[in-house]
Amino acid sequence: MKMELDIWLVLVLLAIISDTGNSANIAFYGGPGVGSHFSTIAALGEELVGRGHNVTAIISGEVTSVKNDVRYAKLFHFTSTNRTASEGKLKDRIDFVARAAVSGDFLGEFAKNKEAMREYWLYDCDDMIKDDDFINSLMEANLDMFIIDPGFGCPNLLPEILKKPFTFFFPTHLEEHLAKALGSPVNVAIRPSYSSGFPLRMTFWQRLHNFLRVEVFPSFITMRMKSTQEYRSLRNISPHSSPTELFSRAELFLVNMDFAVEFPFPISPNVIPVGGITTKPAKLLEQNLEEFVQSSGEDGVIIFTMGSYATYMKEELIREFMTAFSRLPQKIVWKVTLNFPKNIDHSKFKAMSWLPQNDLLAHNKTKLIIFQGGNNGFYEVVYHGVPCVVIPLLEDQYDVASRIIHHGMGVKLDYHTLNADKIEEAVRTVLGNKSYKENTARISSMYGHRTMRPVEKAAFWVEHVIQHGGTHLKSVAGELTWYQYHLVDIVGFLALCVAVVFIILFFVLRIAVRLICTIWWKYRHCKAKKTE
Ligand SMILES: *[C@@H]1O[C@H](CO)[C@@H](O)[C@H](O)[C@H]1NC(C)=O
Ligand SMILES: *[C@@H]1O[C@H](CO)[C@@H](O)[C@H](O)[C@H]1NC(C)=O
Ligand SMILES: *[C@@H]1O[C@H](CO)[C@@H](O)[C@H](O)[C@H]1NC(C)=O
Ligand SMILES: *[C@@H]1O[C@H](CO)[C@@H](O)[C@H](O)[C@H]1NC(C)=O
Repeated sequence: MKMELDIWLVLVLLAIISDTGNSANIAFYGGPGVGSHFSTIAALGEELVGRGHNVTAIISGEVTSVKNDVRYAKLFHFTSTNRTASEGKLKDRIDFVARAAVSGDFLGEFAKNKEAMREYWLYDCDDMIKDDDFINSLMEANLDMFIIDPGFGCPNLLPEILKKPFTFFFPTHLEEHLAKALGSPVNVAIRPSYSSGFPLRMTFWQRLHNFLRVEVFPSFITMRMKSTQEYRSLRNISPHSSPTELFSRAELFLVNMDFAVEFPFPISPNVIPVGGITTKPAKLLEQNLEEFVQSSGEDGVIIFTMGSYATYMKEELIREFMTAFSRLPQKIVWKVTLNFPKNIDHSKFKAMSWLPQNDLLAHNKTKLIIFQGGNNGFYEVVYHGVPCVVIPLLEDQYDVASRIIHHGMGVKLDYHTLNADKIEEAVRTVLGNKSYKENTARISSMYGHRTMRPVEKAAFWVEHVIQHGGTHLKSVAGELTWYQYHLVDIVGFLALCVAVVFIILFFVLRIAVRLICTIWWKYRHCKAKKTE
């Protein structure tokens, strides 16, 4: 009897284990396979692999570096198309963004090159969609879920062609046109729009600007939606669906933001905030770097990085930074750029082409980070509680800067008017006033107070919609017309009701008055007759 019970128990346990080990086939796309978009979505891919899923990374055939990266090679299958832009061409595009970023007129440069960008997008679409081998390999992979970065125009056509469910993963905070497409409420009165850099409490002119940005002028996302629609007509892929309709088919929308630092605003249940997806506990620094950091003594070190964008920082500007840093007692760990001088003081500066930023931020000798306000870097700063000086260059970096200022975590510098004095002053301000460190520590502790790590939460929700679909999370906003959504029909109807009531009242009164008049007249008339 006892024996039987044991076997029974083992069987039950086995059943439980094999059930939770239910492995799904998942593919993700975060651009061609280079840069922060890819590494951000790959962090989610890695977690899903850890949970026993079979994960495929869709990349450009020409980007061999990611396939050769041993860390990724161990985790993912790769599917790529051989009809792609050469690595050289891809590099040209990335360089274009970097140059535009440091040129001082990012949007202007973009506008000038709008046609070229559009061609790139369509070219990318064709690369994927006209490659039968590629489409067939995805078909054979028997996918349960696509995870897609909607910052890239065409890949959400893949689930459309393959008739597969998909989840969006947006690598930064919520962009309002995407939010609308997914049925989330957007109120420009209470939330600064994407890339505006406005504060939480906006002035009248900022709110006006905010309204125009969202409701009147096209955004990158809407431009992309539009060019994809033209492309769909051309290739006969759901030609009659609107871009919004296609977007709203996403089961789920994972967004790399967290309300510990993000300005509060309402979202619908299919929008899941998973801010700081790349944050993780630190590892020890490699010996060489550890020795350098330890040698900084009481004063500690400053991390300086402008991300991959600032490759083309001008030599004069690098000299301004050199001058500013040489006046400060801290040592500098510097992510180098193309024009970095060779003859630097190696006891003061540690120049590295790649920074173990997460591990450096966790180090107790790190006093401050100077960075461009990239979203992943921002959440790593929040996670480890390091005060900062932010120098935004483009897009969401202005928004990150406004959050940093709002929470008193640091100060902002304007890239285009930088000089040694301003840099030195900013660093001295943040290091000389305890409030920045205290605010950052408070926010960091708030951010850490949660039930799951962001990457676990993201993976959990992906599993949830694989199992149950996402229809129960979607608001019906997408099914309504604009006048239904804004209740124009209801207000119109009520106005009509009120009008009808008034009209009826008017006629009733008129009849009443006439009646009274008639009676009155008759009475007077009779009276007059009598007195006659
Ligand atoms: C892509 O690969 C297929 C075979 O897998 C080949 O027939 C085709 O010519 C290749 N296309 C290009 C552009 O290299
Ligand atoms: C995992 O996915 C790949 C396609 O990317 C497929 O070739 C492979 O057979 C899958 N493995 C399992 C165990 O399903
Ligand atoms: C800093 O970290 C080291 C270990 O890396 C530890 O020995 C030391 O006590 C820490 N110092 C402070 C002030 O926390
Ligand atoms: C420190 O900074 C806070 C907030 O910016 C400010 O209110 C305070 O006056 C500063 N303290 C000193 C000593 O400068």
